[in-house]
Amino acid sequence: MSVETRIKAITVPDIRARKGGEPVVCLTAYTTPMARILDPHVDLLLVGDSLGMVLYGLPSTIPVKLGMMIAHGAAVVRGASRACVIVDMPFGSYEQSPGQAFRNAARVMKETGCQGIKLEGGIEMAETVSWLTARGIPVMGHIGLQPQSVFALGGHKTQGRNEADWAAIIADGQAMADAGAFACVIEAVAEPLAEKITGAIPVPTIGIGASATCDGQVLVTEDLLGLAAWSPRFVKRYAELEGLIAGAAESYAADVTARRFPGPEHTYAMKK
Ligand code: KIV
Repeated sequence: MSVETRIKAITVPDIRARKGGEPVVCLTAYTTPMARILDPHVDLLLVGDSLGMVLYGLPSTIPVKLGMMIAHGAAVVRGASRACVIVDMPFGSYEQSPGQAFRNAARVMKETGCQGIKLEGGIEMAETVSWLTARGIPVMGHIGLQPQSVFALGGHKTQGRNEADWAAIIADGQAMADAGAFACVIEAVAEPLAEKITGAIPVPTIGIGASATCDGQVLVTEDLLGLAAWSPRFVKRYAELEGLIAGAAESYAADVTARRFPGPEHTYAMKK
């Protein structure tokens, strides 16, 4: 399979330049058709490791493998012509050393054609982010709730609800920006903390459950479409597709059972 490596219309520097300006619109995508549908409406398509839970029914993002991210990343790049495509580094593919992170991030970029990668972590990942950005790999940070640390945290817990926790999370954001990250996702933090980080760092903050004070927003597309059995408080469901899909399947089953489908218009005749 050939890799699509054209630069998309919206670049990493374009996203970086949106700090304090027009909000950055971001959604997740995992497949070519979804990328094609979303592409005209968003600035950034994130191939999130949330695909492990959303597409594969895994209990967390921990089991997601590099090969899964590469396959879905390449699919999304094929469907996007405008949006900047960023691919998540899965758990275990970057934490060991800057060298490990570079090898795997370079593989993701070569084999998907994406414009950059995202990784989770704050101060402890700063050396790695510096290493990557100095070597031509655009990095998006991810601070606040870091789902790859779900076992260490004891669940998907909102962060920064006590002011005593703020300094560490603000320092994480600052470390990402100082290390050269072009933007930083802030997940599930209390609004005043999100506002503080956004005011403190010179790169766009992209919020998910982090209030409208961020420089942009991201949601998991299947949550917004009403395809998730359960969604967190911070999700606004813009459609209820589960009911539509179930209704279509029910109508199809009824037509097949009653031999109403396929009709003559769906059936090939012999050549005259
Ligand atoms: O994996 C993911 O989809 C993410 C976003 C929700 C920020 O990291």
